[in-house]
Amino acid sequence: MAHRTRPTVGDMTSFTAPGLSIESATTVSTTLQERLSALNDLHLTLKHIHWNVVGANFIGVHEMIDPQVELVRGYADTLAERIATLGSAPRGTAKAIEDDRSWSDYSLGRDSVAAHLGALDLVYDGFVSSHRDAIAKIGELDPITEDILIGQTAELEKFQWFVRAHLESNSGRLPTSGESSEAGAAEAARNGG
Ligand SMILES: [Fe+2]
Repeated sequence: MAHRTRPTVGDMTSFTAPGLSIESATTVSTTLQERLSALNDLHLTLKHIHWNVVGANFIGVHEMIDPQVELVRGYADTLAERIATLGSAPRGTAKAIEDDRSWSDYSLGRDSVAAHLGALDLVYDGFVSSHRDAIAKIGELDPITEDILIGQTAELEKFQWFVRAHLESNSGRLPTSGESSEAGAAEAARNGG
């Protein structure tokens, strides 16, 4: 059987959204594909935390995460359909996540509320920063896609506030401040900073 080459966002149709060049649409879709894989990775990570968090305040965090899973799944759908609208082929497979991501798999297993929220704060630091980078990159080319990403980022930042509100000290300090790894952030959160 002949090998099939995997589809890429380079598989453009001969048309795109009105007023947008094929070249611009390809650049936007390439950026969106990376963010699509990031969103798919994020909702899987959130479910992993939902299943593995233990200890005091379990139920509050377990139940806090599911609406965010649904929101993030919806955002992935929005970006995938935007890629298709622009004339490219969105890739939504596990292999696509693996190919597109420049970050490591979430590293915690069964662990406490504090540890998971500390690590999740770091996950959102990276995710939100990258969504902001994508906004800066494609804003000049396609304000419609920019608007989609801006709306998503606002809600994701709000959820990170929920996470941080569990970690914050009375003096307004985050124990995860300055940590650059999930393990480090988890340990700092366990110890309260
Ligand atoms: Fe569940």
